[in-house]
Amino acid sequence: MADDIVLPAGKAKTLIENTCTECHGLDQVVNNAMSSDAWRTTVKSMVKKGATLSPEEIDTVVDYLSVYFAPEKVNVNTSAAPELQAALGITPAEAAAVVQYRKDNGNFKDLAGLQKVAGLDAKKIDAKKDLIVF
Ligand code: HEC
Repeated sequence: MADDIVLPAGKAKTLIENTCTECHGLDQVVNNAMSSDAWRTTVKSMVKKGATLSPEEIDTVVDYLSVYFAPEKVNVNTSAAPELQAALGITPAEAAAVVQYRKDNGNFKDLAGLQKVAGLDAKKIDAKKDLIVF
């Protein structure tokens, strides 16, 4: 229930509780997991709709939401193919190629190493780089 939602303590907690509930419940906010860029776009679109936040307050809210409501990270050295597929938005064939490469060559050390996997779309990986851990 929207009324039962308790936000984690932080600089933007009260701001969000006061401002972001003018038009919809907090459930609308917390049922999301987004990158910092995506939160910025969303919060700015809320301001266009009528949310009253100063530019500094937008920064505070975006920083807070990007920490507590971030997409889950994926470890490319330990995750199984289906997890890689879901988290990185890659095809089953690409996920299988990552797992095979890892078996043959050992753990990935960095993004550049991961992008060497034959058959893997480097652009897709680049787009998700903030979610990848080694
Ligand atoms: C002036 C009204 C208003 C305020 C204030 C507001 N929103 Fe929204 N928000 C909307 C509307 C309208 C939608 C569209 C969906 C709906 O109708 O429930 C929406 C949808 C959303 C969504 C769903 C994704 C999307 O883009 O449709 C998120 C996330 C969201 N709001 C976050 C926030 C946050 C964070 C704040 C506080 C910074 C906020 N909202 C304040 C009006 C508002």
